[in-house]
Amino acid sequence: MSEKYHIFGYKSIFKYKRFDIVKKRIAIFASGSGSNAQKIMEHFKYSSLAEVALVLSNNPEAYVLQRADNFEIPSHVFDRKTFYESDEIVDILKRLEIDLVVLAGFLWLVPERLLKAFPNKIINIHPALLPKFGGKGMYGDRVHQAVLAAGEEEHGITIHFVNEKFDEGEVIHQAKFKIENGDTLEILKFKGQQLEHQYFPKVIENLLKKYN
Ligand code: GRF
Repeated sequence: MSEKYHIFGYKSIFKYKRFDIVKKRIAIFASGSGSNAQKIMEHFKYSSLAEVALVLSNNPEAYVLQRADNFEIPSHVFDRKTFYESDEIVDILKRLEIDLVVLAGFLWLVPERLLKAFPNKIINIHPALLPKFGGKGMYGDRVHQAVLAAGEEEHGITIHFVNEKFDEGEVIHQAKFKIENGDTLEILKFKGQQLEHQYFPKVIENLLKKYN
């Protein structure tokens, strides 16, 4: 099945127009498992405010693609050259009338062409309390390891706008928890993930409510 067929193969993609219900449209970028993407797709499945219109990944093996399929949400896989050297991704997002781009475990830096096409409409979630423990190479277990090594008293998550640098855009929301004596990397990861799942869909919803 070609990628293009995969995107536009679902008849439901333009459904909202036929019924004249103008829902906000979300595109999710993810490189891996997609547990956050799952929570977002669940949250908006029956929403009258918004829908997840497309899931995009740079990784053809990413489990997030299976999750999208389970929700009958179209997906699109792209490579580095396409992402950084062509307008293809911007064209797809514009054609699908995407209102908000959500990075949920997406590991590549967003190119300027995409930032310009969606000013203040691209957000990311990071598993630490930015500005601490962010930047290039700070993802996954490395973040929690660094937090433990630094002897921090608290840890948490940050949802922020995306700019041209890793993890440096304006903060939209943070949630935190206290680190207990004996907390391991796995425990920090679990507690952080609970917060991500709890807050990310709600923050997206609140943001979309502000758009006209
Ligand atoms: C999350 O911890 C998020 O903060 C980070 O990447 C991870 C993605 O996890 N940006 P998942 O694929 O949503 O489970």
